[in-house]
Amino acid sequence: MARQPLVAGNWKMNGRQAFATDLLAGLAEKALAGVEVVICPPFPYLGAVTGAAGHLKAGAQNVARTEDGAFTGEVSAQMLADCGCQYVIIGHSERRALFAEDDDCVADKYQRAQDAGLTPILCLGETLEEREGGDTEAVIARQLDAVLARHGAASLARAVIAYEPVWAIGTGKTASPEQAQAVHAFIRERVAGQDHVVAEGLRILYGGSVKADNAASLFGAPDIDGGLIGGASLDIASFAAICEAAAN
Ligand code: PGA
Repeated sequence: MARQPLVAGNWKMNGRQAFATDLLAGLAEKALAGVEVVICPPFPYLGAVTGAAGHLKAGAQNVARTEDGAFTGEVSAQMLADCGCQYVIIGHSERRALFAEDDDCVADKYQRAQDAGLTPILCLGETLEEREGGDTEAVIARQLDAVLARHGAASLARAVIAYEPVWAIGTGKTASPEQAQAVHAFIRERVAGQDHVVAEGLRILYGGSVKADNAASLFGAPDIDGGLIGGASLDIASFAAICEAAAN
């Protein structure tokens, strides 16, 4: 079964209304057949994406761990779905490291997203220390198993995984296609151990300093099905080139 490539732009806490307008206009001019493109702006700008005509999809960068209620400042999965959002990034390393989200919290958010009909983009990744200590697979397995144990491999039929080595995020140090492919294959094999069919259909994105000039070689690896793009998603020409690399 062929997996449709997916490229998601994670603006993090960047961007303005005018940037959203320009980006959407810039991408509308491109023929992006064969790639699914998801834009993940900060909450205030989601409406610019959901309201845009065309094939772009909207994703949130975060979601509440709980359902609606007295949780000042939180945004629920039901609200995101209600506003036309289709994806949500879960377990990004910045949320894990800076906002103390542990595996249990990530598994809760994953469930909220799926219950509301959103597709979680579940981020997994090791730090430099963990990689140098030879613990990459153990860390990825722990992060993945936290979700598999609670929700089962079948739930991944309605999810996307993003492998994002923490040492490659925002550092300009991209994992080589071989390094990334090895971890992607590990993830797919681990899911296949529980559900072979789901594993075959599962889209596994690579994230971490993907740029216009390294996207094609990364996306050429057999188990890399697209990218989660941070910095380069803030440059319209770069982001469009990355989407085109995935489409090809
Ligand atoms: P980067 O970020 O492309 O700027 O490295 C990727 C991410 O954090 O999703």
